[in-house]
Order: sequence, then C-alpha cells, then structure tokens
Amino acid sequence: SQPLRLGIAGLGTVGTGVVKILRQKSVLLAERAGRAIEISAVSARTRDKDRGVSLASYAWEDDPVALATRDDVDVFVELMGGSDGPAKAAVEAALKAGKDVVTANKAMLAHHGQALAELAESTGAVLRFEAAVAGGIPVIKALTEGLAGNEIERVMGVMNGTCNYILTRMEDGGLSYDEAFAEADGLGFLEADPQLDVGGIDAGHKLSLLSSIAFGTQVAFSAVELEGIGSVTIEDIRQAADMGFRIKLLGVARMTGRGLEQSMAPCLVPANSPLGQLQGGTNMVVIEGDQVGQIVMRGAGAGEGPTASAVMGDVMDIARGLRVSTFGRPAGALKPAVPAMVSTP
Ligand code: HSE
Repeated sequence: SQPLRLGIAGLGTVGTGVVKILRQKSVLLAERAGRAIEISAVSARTRDKDRGVSLASYAWEDDPVALATRDDVDVFVELMGGSDGPAKAAVEAALKAGKDVVTANKAMLAHHGQALAELAESTGAVLRFEAAVAGGIPVIKALTEGLAGNEIERVMGVMNGTCNYILTRMEDGGLSYDEAFAEADGLGFLEADPQLDVGGIDAGHKLSLLSSIAFGTQVAFSAVELEGIGSVTIEDIRQAADMGFRIKLLGVARMTGRGLEQSMAPCLVPANSPLGQLQGGTNMVVIEGDQVGQIVMRGAGAGEGPTASAVMGDVMDIARGLRVSTFGRPAGALKPAVPAMVSTP
C-alpha cells in the first residue's frame, strides 16, 4: 500500500523527538502499520540550527501553511504551539484541504477545539491530539476508544509536568522555586510562556479537553476554576508535610446535577497516596467510569520522548485507517457546557 506522508511543522523538543522516532524505527513502524511512514517536508522558525538529527532528506518550507497544503503531505503534524497565529492558520488550511492533522497544541484546542472539530468533520479529515494532554500517557485514546462503553463519572489528575517538578523538587530537594524552575527548563518541560505552566493555565487547558470527551460537552476552558502554584510557599509545603500531606496542582472535572464542575488548583493530597507519591515531571490521570470503576494512569507528562510517543500513537492510528472523531463523538453532538460553581472537589 501507499506510504503515509507527513509534513511536520515545529522542530522544538517534541518535533525533533518525532523526527528521531521516524528515522530510527521506520522498519518497526511500517511493520505495525502495514505501510511505510515517511516525512515529506518540515518547517520551523529557524532552519540552521543543530537539532541532533539530519533534516537533509526532507523538503523545507518557511511557511507552515504552505507545508500543510503540499500535495505530498497526507498528514499535517502541528508541533509549533500557540493558541492562535501560525499554528491555527496552518491547521485550518490542512483541514480545509481535507488533510488529517495530528497536534500537541492544547492551547489551540482549548480555545478553538469546537470550531476545528467541526471543520475537520466538514471535509472528512481526522484531527487527533493525544500529545496535548498528559504527555506520554495515552489518556485521549483511553477515553475515546477503550472506555467508550462507559458513562464517565469523574476525571482527575496532575497534568502539568513543570508544576509537579517544581513542587516536588522544592519539597524533596530543598531547592528554591527558581532552582527547580531552571531544572524543569533544562528538561524541556516549559511552555514558550512559562506563565502558562505556573499559572495553571496549561493544566486547565488539558482538563477542559478531557472534560469535553468525558462528558460530551463543547470545550469550556473559560469555565475552569483556575489557580496556579505562584502563591505556594516553601512554608506551605513544610506545613503540609508536617501533617502528612503534599501540595499538588490537581485538576478535577465531573458532571453534577448543577452542571459541569472543572477546577485546577493546588490541593493537599496524602503524602503516601499515589498522587502524593508523584515525582518530577510525572503526570497522573484518574478516570472513573460507571462500568470499569477507577483507572489510574501514571507516566511522563512532558519532555521529548514521551510527548513524541503520543504524537506517533496518533500518526499510527491514521496510518492504520482508524477514523475517530476529535472529541470521541461527532462535533455536532457535543452540547454546550453548563458550568457549575465548584464547591469542594
Ligand atoms: N509545559 C507542559 C508541562 C508540557 O510542563 O506539562 C507538556 O504539556
């Protein structure tokens, strides 16, 4: 069968990781998909930069929209980031041209997920975003596919590696906020604007995407009750530890009789609980379904390998011909979210 041809826009931590996987594992991937997966062209802000991987055999486009609409591109892989601007323009161009899109862009989907899902559907394209939530943990696939026979009752979790890294290094390593932040930066965890991380916004974006799939509602990021880790002090962390607790930036979403509750805020969790034990850039997602009961998934929530792993999962789905709706049901079936004020999680 025909090879699947990719156009990759954005060659930062994640994009570079995807190129490496495609180069190093081409035989294995082709065996699994039943067809070769190739890169036709790439695009990034800077062309001449040592990324530790050769790009010589791929066409180069300065303009991501041109990349997204090339004739030799079947799937547009968007790893640029940013909720608006070039990333959104290129994704729209790809979908309008009927090309499938794989993205890691949680900010874009949190703000424009409904419109993009509708656009994808109107042209018969698939838009997938496993890498946008909880890095390497395949939580989107769990919700849209493996748990599709359940009514989801609650989704919770720690979904920002940077915040978890900072909080645990302050507690366990005795590091200052600035030192822990610098380490997270060195590991490739941070957003281009780190305020998205420490302000809880990035984690809120992710929670709103999971809510949409879990509860069948349109993405309602603006309804997430949001608080970042900026006001958490070393003293708070010590006091919590004295009482047997740790502070985690915890998200909770559930559907109640009063509407959809979504909160992302620093919470006390027992130090010896699975959530309390989460170290470094690790994420944890807890899903409760009426048939399956509780499922706990834990893994790297950021960084090159884990996030590229999630991107490749989506690429492989497409290579195999799997056509799942963006939020697990047709876009027109997603109901407007009625937000409930959050009392206690
Ligand atoms: N800045 C994000 C985090 C990257 O720290 O979790 C992964 O989405």
